[in-house]
Amino acid sequence: MLGRLNHVAIAVPDLAKGVEVYRSMLGTKVSAPQAEPAHGVTVVFVELPNTKIELLEPLGDTSPIIAFLEKNPSGGIHHLCYEVADILAARDHLKEQGARVLGDGNPRIGAHGKPVLFLHPKDFCGTLVELEQA
Ligand code: CO
Repeated sequence: MLGRLNHVAIAVPDLAKGVEVYRSMLGTKVSAPQAEPAHGVTVVFVELPNTKIELLEPLGDTSPIIAFLEKNPSGGIHHLCYEVADILAARDHLKEQGARVLGDGNPRIGAHGKPVLFLHPKDFCGTLVELEQA
């Protein structure tokens, strides 16, 4: 069911510092910051040969990553995003297996302009999982 690892998302308390780490220390290509008000984050994409890293900084007082950063003040891996060919078929299959889909259970348009869903970490080895229709 799963395709490629689309990205690993890392929540950071300070996006500019995170960009410096990846651009200057690690020598990667980093995109310009992109505000995603619907998701409560500002995001940059780090391009790697085989996948992407997303650095996420909270945007607004109700950002879904604020609580995560309270527990992980220097930042941390927030979620993994796997590609699927058909997001509705994947969702229905996982729900049949008893997995919990976050939110209202319907895909939303993610940071790459494609439909995404999030799955409950307790059902996936303690990892928040994002599915993206590739
Ligand atoms: Co993501």
